[in-house]
Amino acid sequence: MATLAPQPAANSAADPYDVTRPELYRDDTWQEPFRWLRANAPVYRCENSAFGPYWSVSTYKPIVHAESLPEIFSSEMGGIVIADLQEGDIKMPMFIAMDRPKHTGQRRTIAPAFTPSEMVRMTGDIRRRTTEILDSLPVGEEFDWVDRVSIELTTQMLAILFDFPWEDRRLLTYWSDWAGDIEIAHNPERKEERRQILFQCAAYFTNLWKSKVGKDPTPDLISMMIHSDAMSEMDDMEFLGNLILLIVGGNDTTRNSMSAFAWGLEQFPDQRAKLEADPGLIPNAVQEIIRWQTPLAHMRRTATEDTILEGQEIKAGDKLALWYLSANRDESVFPDADKIIIERENARRHLAFGHGIHRCVGARLAELQISVLMEEMAKRRLRVNVLREPDRVAACFVHGYRKMPAELSRY
Ligand code: HEM
Repeated sequence: MATLAPQPAANSAADPYDVTRPELYRDDTWQEPFRWLRANAPVYRCENSAFGPYWSVSTYKPIVHAESLPEIFSSEMGGIVIADLQEGDIKMPMFIAMDRPKHTGQRRTIAPAFTPSEMVRMTGDIRRRTTEILDSLPVGEEFDWVDRVSIELTTQMLAILFDFPWEDRRLLTYWSDWAGDIEIAHNPERKEERRQILFQCAAYFTNLWKSKVGKDPTPDLISMMIHSDAMSEMDDMEFLGNLILLIVGGNDTTRNSMSAFAWGLEQFPDQRAKLEADPGLIPNAVQEIIRWQTPLAHMRRTATEDTILEGQEIKAGDKLALWYLSANRDESVFPDADKIIIERENARRHLAFGHGIHRCVGARLAELQISVLMEEMAKRRLRVNVLREPDRVAACFVHGYRKMPAELSRY
């Protein structure tokens, strides 16, 4: 993933509809500017931003359109985040930021880890680990939901997917935070530190890789990569890039959906009561919570040729931010979109996993982990009460929470 260091704005005039500003996410005030954009300029040219000029695509239809035409809207040309690579940044090729045909081969290599039959195979283990974590939590005492539940569950899952040494698993969280955090990448003084940490990550995984070369295949992602044609010949940076993709892709996103389960239902107690009364609503509620949170606010595309999108003339080389966060609040598709409605009929149509050839390969696994968490909470008749406003990530990419003071009670 490209680092997210901003470029200086062309001039100092701030654009109120520049939705890349980190404070909008830190303060949870992104809803208003996006509402304006959807109503007035669904494909909007922002000339001045910390990331240079870009098009903001904020409604459902043009996002689906752009993602359906990957030859015109490239993931490879400029990467998948709004920031361009800067001098001295680490270049890490990863298949989320590749176009066809290379993307196809690499995606096919890891897709077998996420088939429905793999999900069935993993369910027992996910349930056992979720049970252990829930049973270790205090009832009626304050703790941090993000750290004790969301991070722990998702990190354990990744450790299993990579067959990663169990006692070192929090390293996965640590690396993921360094790789995906816009605030850290913003800070020129911490750039070198970040590079060192990502190299430590690469070195650790290289050893893990070496320990599996020449051995029989096992059902973990590293072994799958070793035994595939498309990925076995990757150079070091491509290896690191794809690992970071899986670590960040599988970690921050699912983590923030689990936190949204707690925070979102705290905002809509009537919906929480409905869910508590009927656990049969959990599968739809999972979709609705993912829609409402949208853990990755945007993906970027770069136009490979001149084209028209919603009547706007896009030039070859222009960059576009596809705001899933906003499309999932598009009232023409999701009435009362700002509300969690656990019985929402079309919750599944959300774009939080993207659309088209890059649609999230780990979606089923994410849904499974969140469902099991909600089912096990329901079995124990446990409710999370969030005690104060959570601390949020100040970034326009990972949309989530850093800390969430919570307390469990029984109903
Ligand atoms: C791709 C979201 C969980 C691995 C994506 C994309 C999004 C996304 C928006 C890009 C789609 C596009 O460009 O069109 C999410 C969300 C998750 C989640 C919201 C949880 C709620 C996971 C998990 C894994 C994972 C658990 C793996 C362990 C990936 C990978 C890609 C991807 C490898 C690249 C797919 C490709 O380029 O073909 N995800 N993700 N994600 N995700 Fe996820």
